[in-house]
Amino acid sequence: MKAKNCLIFGGSGQIGRNLIRKLTKNNYKVTVVTRNIHQKSYTIKTQANAGYIDIVEANIFDEVKIRKLFANADICINLIGILYEQKRRGSTFNNIHSLFPSILAKLCKEYKLKNFIHISALGINEASDSSYAKSKLKGETNILKNYSLATILRPSVVFSVDDNFTTNFMTLLKRLPIFPIYYSGKTKFMPIHCSDLTDIIFHVISKNILSNIIECVGPEELSFKEILEKLLILISKKRIFLPLPLPLAYVSARFFQLMPKPLLTVDQLKLLKYDNIKTGKYKTNSDIGIPSTRIFEEEVKKYCFMWKEGGQFSTEKYDVNKLTKN
Ligand SMILES: NC(=O)c1ccc[n+]([C@@H]2O[C@H](COP(=O)([O-])OP(=O)(O)OC[C@H]3O[C@@H](n4cnc5c(N)ncnc54)[C@H](OP(=O)(O)O)[C@@H]3O)[C@@H](O)[C@H]2O)c1
Repeated sequence: MKAKNCLIFGGSGQIGRNLIRKLTKNNYKVTVVTRNIHQKSYTIKTQANAGYIDIVEANIFDEVKIRKLFANADICINLIGILYEQKRRGSTFNNIHSLFPSILAKLCKEYKLKNFIHISALGINEASDSSYAKSKLKGETNILKNYSLATILRPSVVFSVDDNFTTNFMTLLKRLPIFPIYYSGKTKFMPIHCSDLTDIIFHVISKNILSNIIECVGPEELSFKEILEKLLILISKKRIFLPLPLPLAYVSARFFQLMPKPLLTVDQLKLLKYDNIKTGKYKTNSDIGIPSTRIFEEEVKKYCFMWKEGGQFSTEKYDVNKLTKN
């Protein structure tokens, strides 16, 4: 069978790297577009066997360069997303989440691609006061206006050893004796493991699933506080949670967002107010036959040792008492 060509934008990120491994193992050829080939090619290249991967450096708004890549593509996957804006560089929510997906959708239609898969986010209909959510929603509308065959996946929070979620929280929980929580930690999530999400993407591609919007959720519903409590148990720490009153939370977010890589922005604080769980209004990954099975605690247990005293030597494998008993 002739290998299909997948054109991937944002392939150097958490989801992209996992997806490249899955696609190339299954006889798909991938072309990954990155802004910085020198910085990212090592990470991208090592995800696939030689001959299955091409890396192209491009500004994603350089339509002449991007257009050429569509000539040989069968499938386009957009994984580009940002959590905060860097206006000076044009990295705004509108450009990245609304304008760019609409350009891709137009090109997919023009070049008659079989599939266009776009990763959006869960809970964006509800979070109407968040610029992130509004721009993601506008991106979805733009896509469906330009290419009605697109599949839009809306994941809840995605976790894995490569994430910016559990790993950042374990770092903070390890360092801070008192941990601020927002909205009393009641916001609910359905965390999905990165590999479960890429199984869904692979299923959509290989089975040619055509369904405009699919909500992608993990098997458990956990509040923000429950997630933090699980992480604390996993790294064997005890911490005091400090529920921050909203005005104080806004002041802290305004301060944090001055940092080059902000821990929290005002917009993220607004987003955190809304539950990030399936809505019942759209199909879910279970409805298309790919339920997510990986349990949060069991998966994080596999890599949390890096945040424990003793590092890898804190694991059962190196438990001297256990070894000498036998
Ligand atoms: N991770 C989650 O919990 C989660 C939850 C819901 C939705 N999503 C969505 O899923 C998608 C993928 O997430 P991820 O976690 O894999 O993201 P990620 O690790 O942050 O990677 C995003 C990729 O986007 C590219 N990118 C970032 N800013 C860019 C810019 N200004 N111009 C061009 N390219 C840019 C980067 O590629 P280069 O640096 O190589 O150019 C990067 O590899 C995103 O759309 C995200 O919003 C993620």
